[in-house]
Amino acid sequence: MSNKTKQLYIETYGCQMNMADTEVVLSIMDGVGYKLTKEAAKADLIFVNTCSVRDNAELRVKQRVSELKTHKRNNPDVLIGVLGCMAERLRTELIDKNNVVDLVVGPDEYRKLPKMVNDAYAGQRGIAVKLSRVENYDDITPLRTEGISAWLSVTRGCDKFCTFCVVPFTRGRERSRTLKSVVDEVHKLSERGFKEVTLLGQNVNSYHDGEFDFPDLLSAVAKVDRTIRIRYATSHPQDMSDKLIEVMAEHSNICKYVHLPVQSGSNRILKLMNRTYTIEHYLGLLEKIKRAMPDVSFSTDIIAGFPTETDDDHRLTLDVMKQVKYDGAYMFKYSPRENTKAWEMGDDVVEEKKVERLNEIIALQEDISNELNRAAVGQTMEVLVERDSSRSSDDLMGRTDTNKKTLFPREDALVGEYRNVKIERATAHTLFGKLVQNVN
Ligand code: SAH
Ligand code: SF4
Ligand code: F3S
Repeated sequence: MSNKTKQLYIETYGCQMNMADTEVVLSIMDGVGYKLTKEAAKADLIFVNTCSVRDNAELRVKQRVSELKTHKRNNPDVLIGVLGCMAERLRTELIDKNNVVDLVVGPDEYRKLPKMVNDAYAGQRGIAVKLSRVENYDDITPLRTEGISAWLSVTRGCDKFCTFCVVPFTRGRERSRTLKSVVDEVHKLSERGFKEVTLLGQNVNSYHDGEFDFPDLLSAVAKVDRTIRIRYATSHPQDMSDKLIEVMAEHSNICKYVHLPVQSGSNRILKLMNRTYTIEHYLGLLEKIKRAMPDVSFSTDIIAGFPTETDDDHRLTLDVMKQVKYDGAYMFKYSPRENTKAWEMGDDVVEEKKVERLNEIIALQEDISNELNRAAVGQTMEVLVERDSSRSSDDLMGRTDTNKKTLFPREDALVGEYRNVKIERATAHTLFGKLVQNVN
């Protein structure tokens, strides 16, 4: 079938790297005449870019795929493809057994999509799930559909093998793009008026292109355009070097915000998780970061109910949260994943216990976020105006350097501007204020 303009609908699950991959897929498919549609009912081609990190993520995707199949029933010409991290795990279930979908394509095989889609139109279902040691889509400019903030994957894969985590299996070995290709892309983003760039990788701070390390990359990117804010995620405590801290402190446009997943407060559990640090080392890192950047804020990831976790281990996690006072946290119930080391440790923390511990962690974080945000009341903060507020068309939404969502009446402010906002009120997740002209 010819590649005249067709409509592509895509849903994306999982982490920011998957969102960034979707933009790579859009770019590849745009090259063969597919335009993005926001309505599945109008699509000729439906992609679901999937996540495997926890069981509930997988369940949601399976449910969505079966819902989207109704479009195929209405129009047999519609093709459905499953992309991303579940591809390898689900290929048998989705293609061999049930013929549920027309193609299954893993994260390193997106260059094959145009051919596979054509083959599928010709009736040949396709599977491509090989992982690569080198693919990083260096030469493909992601098709970004939003104009202020850009995600930019600088590493792919992960070599850390935390015992609970499926990512090294779904995404393969770690590899880095060249510094030059990243800097060139940031130049292009600057020309197009982007105001925020987030460098992405599963452990972005272990970036190494053979010549340059992550601090080199970060400082090169920061120098491209001082009006562009630079963020990065996710960093692993093991690779949080002194050099990286220095570079962060040195450049005013690198956000003073560090997402540093702790996972657990118990050294015994951290060891079982193969996280490679002790809690003392982790807390020492945060102290060092704070000394270099007193205004820095932190966020984290926490898992409740890892195998063998006791009430005492759990209390140690709560203690760390109280001590650090994270601005925000992503909090999860342990979910056993096949093939991982932890899978073999069993799943001995009973569901009710896991839920109880997770709820305690969430409630504590809510209190801490509330307290920290209330402390912001009365202060004037610079925000980058990102978009209209979803709550009211009279308001705009911006983010502070420390990544706090801030709502304020629009007045003369425009999306993409840096403006000062005096904070008048706060909840655990949002600051509310009004524009002020003077810099504090
Ligand atoms: N590379 C990042 C994040 C990877 S996945 C890092 O190293 O921190 C995002 C988060 O999901 C992890 O930090 C972890 O908290 C959580 N996670 C990963 N596997 C999980 C599992 N099997 N069960 C519950 N949470 C998990
Ligand atoms: Fe998973 Fe650990 Fe790699 Fe993060 S560092 S992606 S948690 S294996
Ligand atoms: Fe999920 Fe894959 Fe990201 S498993 S969290 S989409 S790397």
